[in-house]
Amino acid sequence: MRIAMIGTGYVGLVSGVCFSEFGFDVACVDIDASKIERLNAGEVPIYEPGLDGLIERNLSAGRLSFTTDFDTAVARADVVFVAVGTPSRRGDGEADLTYVYAAARQIAKAMRPGTVVVIKSTVVVGTCRKVAEIIREERPGVDFSVASNPEFLREGSAIEDFMRPDRVVVGAEDERAEAALRRLYRPLYLRETPILVTSLENAELTKYAANAFLAVKITFINEIANLCEKVGGDVQKVASGIGLDNRIGSKFLHAGPGFGGSCFPKDTTALAATGLKHGAPQRLVETTIAVNEERKRQMAERVLAALGPETAGKRVGILGIAFKPNTDDVRDAPSLVIVPALQAAGVTVVAHDPEARGQAEPLLPGLEWRANPYDVADEVDVLAVITEWNTYRGLDLAEIARRMRGHAVVDMRNIWQGSDVVAAGLDYQGIGKTP
Ligand code: UGA
Repeated sequence: MRIAMIGTGYVGLVSGVCFSEFGFDVACVDIDASKIERLNAGEVPIYEPGLDGLIERNLSAGRLSFTTDFDTAVARADVVFVAVGTPSRRGDGEADLTYVYAAARQIAKAMRPGTVVVIKSTVVVGTCRKVAEIIREERPGVDFSVASNPEFLREGSAIEDFMRPDRVVVGAEDERAEAALRRLYRPLYLRETPILVTSLENAELTKYAANAFLAVKITFINEIANLCEKVGGDVQKVASGIGLDNRIGSKFLHAGPGFGGSCFPKDTTALAATGLKHGAPQRLVETTIAVNEERKRQMAERVLAALGPETAGKRVGILGIAFKPNTDDVRDAPSLVIVPALQAAGVTVVAHDPEARGQAEPLLPGLEWRANPYDVADEVDVLAVITEWNTYRGLDLAEIARRMRGHAVVDMRNIWQGSDVVAAGLDYQGIGKTP
């Protein structure tokens, strides 16, 4: 089976590479010629553990290729995946489907009869049927199938998530589409991964419902954390207590500075907009979006409060700028709200992040960067942890205390034991704990 993967963003690149690892012949297509050139040279445009090795192996095995030649890749393919971006549309927050529809038109012109077109991009309900209409318009009378196959991989553990998913969701309404997708996912099938085959609408909705549910779960525990702080509780104990109930589950119950990234903020906004459009408001999701936005601002206020009444001229050190560890991605990261709010109060902010500097530098003017996490502590009044990189967990707290001029540590991810920080001579503020 030959695959064409349209779009080499996060999802397109990881899925394309993983399908080639499964032994299929995959052509990854992008309009960005310099990106394609770099990929063909084995250079990976994103930071994703394990991806470079897989690219190298499958490029040299000749199963994987990167090209700007859309028409040839599509004409040779049995299955064409669409994995182009679906950014938030300005104004109404609905997903912008311009790139999906443009890809559909171009696929229609180039494809062979019998091609299966699979939408992997996160798209609002109804999009796959619209794609089928577009293809029919462009190529009246030509036989083809459309399917939906949303992706659930997480940045930072994308390869593992693709290779060992909890489930695969397929929206397919004819035998050819179902058979093609079952065949592509057979390596997982053999590992007993459930493959759920359903309607196009159900598959599209499942993706949004999953992301929105997880965003609600995080926001729920963040609000419980606020209550813990007021009444002498410990959110980590409460999260363990509820998480052991199988109906709730322990994952995505880590309180923190609010969710960010390229998916949850965009997908919750799109789901809320879709709900309103169809007269089925998603009020829980709407509230989640508002509470999460507010939370990022509250985190900046915590740091300012730790600085005392005079903030101008003070210094804050920040550990972690990426929206989560093991990625260089800073899209909608809490740091993008926290750092400017501190700077607006006259604070000098210095930061370290193992990977995100390149992405963050243009977005955070005036932020001073350090190559070593300890250097972030030099002469700062407050040290704040925003991202829970593993390398920060074992830092020598006594060394940090020696370098700081103030005493306050604001640990927004609870990576340290409060008692250890206090033993080093510092004041500790975690999330959802009383000092
Ligand atoms: C998310 C989903 O987890 C994936 O299943 C999905 O495929 C992906 O979006 C997507 O739609 O493409 P991702 O955005 O890579 O993946 O990152 P997550 O690990 O889900 O984290 C999202 C945000 O929630 C981060 O800011 C993280 O710090 C935060 N989070 C996560 C918490 O604050 N607490 C938690 O317990 C878990």
